[in-house]
Amino acid sequence: MSKVYLVASGKGGTGKTMFSVNLGASYAQKGYRVVVVDMDMGLRNLDLYLGLENNVVFDVYDVVTGVCPIRQALIRDRRIDGLYMIGSSPERDKGDLTPLHIQVLCEKLKEQFDYIIIDSPSGIDDGLVLASAGADAAIIVTTPEYAALRDADAVDRELVRLGVKKRYLVLNKLIAEMMNSGYIPRLRVISSIMRAKLIGIIQFDMNINISTNLGQPIVLKKGTYIQQNFENICDRLIEEEGR
Ligand SMILES: Nc1ncnc2c1ncn2[C@@H]1O[C@H](COP(=O)(O)OP(=O)(O)O)[C@@H](O)[C@H]1O
Ligand SMILES: [Mg+2]
Repeated sequence: MSKVYLVASGKGGTGKTMFSVNLGASYAQKGYRVVVVDMDMGLRNLDLYLGLENNVVFDVYDVVTGVCPIRQALIRDRRIDGLYMIGSSPERDKGDLTPLHIQVLCEKLKEQFDYIIIDSPSGIDDGLVLASAGADAAIIVTTPEYAALRDADAVDRELVRLGVKKRYLVLNKLIAEMMNSGYIPRLRVISSIMRAKLIGIIQFDMNINISTNLGQPIVLKKGTYIQQNFENICDRLIEEEGR
């Protein structure tokens, strides 16, 4: 059964787009058909992180408003078989998009893809309502700071209200020495204060920052600890959600 995963966060800059790209690439490397959809309508980043910025002609808005069929907005990643993306359109007024539009889009994408990963805007406003409309489960990406955790919890609560039953947590940009020194909350504390289940931890690593700048998903480099980590997160999600 195909799955739609929403990637959300309270605070901006926690790593949603980086995570969406690499989760999608990891599933595709495992042989699944994957599309990552940029639903961060305000700030378009996904195409850059995939190095596909010159290929975006049609976007989500064009598809849901009937300007073009889905296949025209699908951009294939030439490096990884089975990986596709759909871009967003920051310059448009999204006032006429409804959650139903997005729900229908997700249903249609499920006919062609095993995984649909929705990169959403930060926060709990209308953008989240739209982005979450077709989601089977959500992955909330947070950094290990109290402010980010509180905002992640607010997103979690809003997702419950919006009817997203399963929510998972990914802790990103972790600096182990800071945690060990007690400058940031420890894992035990984080797990106890958050309701969403912790399914992944990603360390702060300059190489991740470099990879997003170069438009090359970090998991393309096989055998690195980051690539293995992403593979483990995929496996854990398959274990939790089934396939
Ligand atoms: N684990 C990490 N280590 C180092 N830099 C990271 C990590 N995760 C994300 N970044 C960097 O943080 C910035 C914000 O990430 P991004 O995915 O754009 O966040 P969001 O989509 O949540 O706004 C980017 O420059 C990205 O390269
Ligand atoms: Mg983003």
